[in-house]
Formats: sequence, C-alpha cells, structure tokens
Amino acid sequence: MQIMGCNDCHTPQYGMKGGAVPESQWLIGSEIGFNGPWGTIYPSNLRQMVQDMDEATWVTYIKNFKARPPMPSYDTNKISHQDLKDMYAFVRSLGPATNNVPQYLPPGKKPRTPFIDFNVQLPK
Ligand code: HEC
Repeated sequence: MQIMGCNDCHTPQYGMKGGAVPESQWLIGSEIGFNGPWGTIYPSNLRQMVQDMDEATWVTYIKNFKARPPMPSYDTNKISHQDLKDMYAFVRSLGPATNNVPQYLPPGKKPRTPFIDFNVQLPK
C-alpha cells in the first residue's frame, strides 16, 4: 500500500507530513475533494470498504473498477493477484475505521468541503 502510493490520497495529511502518519490513521479516506471536469470526488475509506468484502470480491473489484481522475484505477487494475491478496490481508489487519467521506458531486455542483482544484489554469 505504501510503495504504490495509496496513502498519498487515501490517508489524510500523508503527503504533507512526509509519510509520518501512524498506521492507525492509514487509508481512512479524506474529506478534501478533488475537483475537476469530472465533478468532485473524495478518496474512499478503504478500511471500511474491505469490511464488507471477502478476498475474492476485493480481487475482482480492484482488477476491474474504473474511477474518475486522479484515482489511477488504470494502474491499480494491473496489480497482480498475489499482491491484491496481500493488500486485502493488510488493509483488513488495520481494522475498521469510521471517517465521514463526503459523497461524489457531479460537475457544476459547488463543494461545501475543502477541495483541491484540478482544473487547468492559464497564466494571466
Ligand atoms: C492520486 C490520488 C489517489 C491515489 C494515488 C490512489 N487513490 Fe484510490 N481513489 C482516489 C479517489 C479520489 C477516489 C474516488 C474516486 C471516484 O469517486 O471516482 C478513489 C477511489 C478508490 C477506490 C474505489 C472505492 C469505492 O468506493 O468504490 C478504490 C478501491 C481505491 N481508490 C483504491 C486505491 C488503491 C488500492 C490505491 C493504491 C494502489 C489507490 N486507490 C491510490 C484517489 C487516489
């Protein structure tokens, strides 16, 4: 999870703190939205997500899901079967964690949470 960069988006403050976030806080999702032409999305709470899935469901899900940018699902879809099984065991071992990750907002809706603007800006 660490070397594939999942924490960079799915763990609050991970990048800002240079990765110095205790494992107890890993992968709980984020309420800072990523706003762009796709609308506003929020990194999901993966700790909670695996609670409702068995290993085979997780493997099939990660191999096939398509997310909006900048979630790199086109890369995540390529993770090997064995690595996916190991990831599942690891994320499960962290235990459930509640965190209120906001719902997806379609394009044109103004977020009421903090957000990062991914819209391309032109120099003024
Ligand atoms: C650049 C930021 C970023 C990185 C890196 C990233 N994610 Fe995400 N991820 C997101 C965002 C944002 C969403 C929400 C996508 C959406 O709503 O379409 C998401 C969604 C997901 C979902 C879908 C959850 C659901 O509710 O259906 C899964 C599973 C997931 N990510 C797993 C991972 C894994 C595993 C890694 C590391 C291999 C990873 N992500 C790396 C930002 C990221």
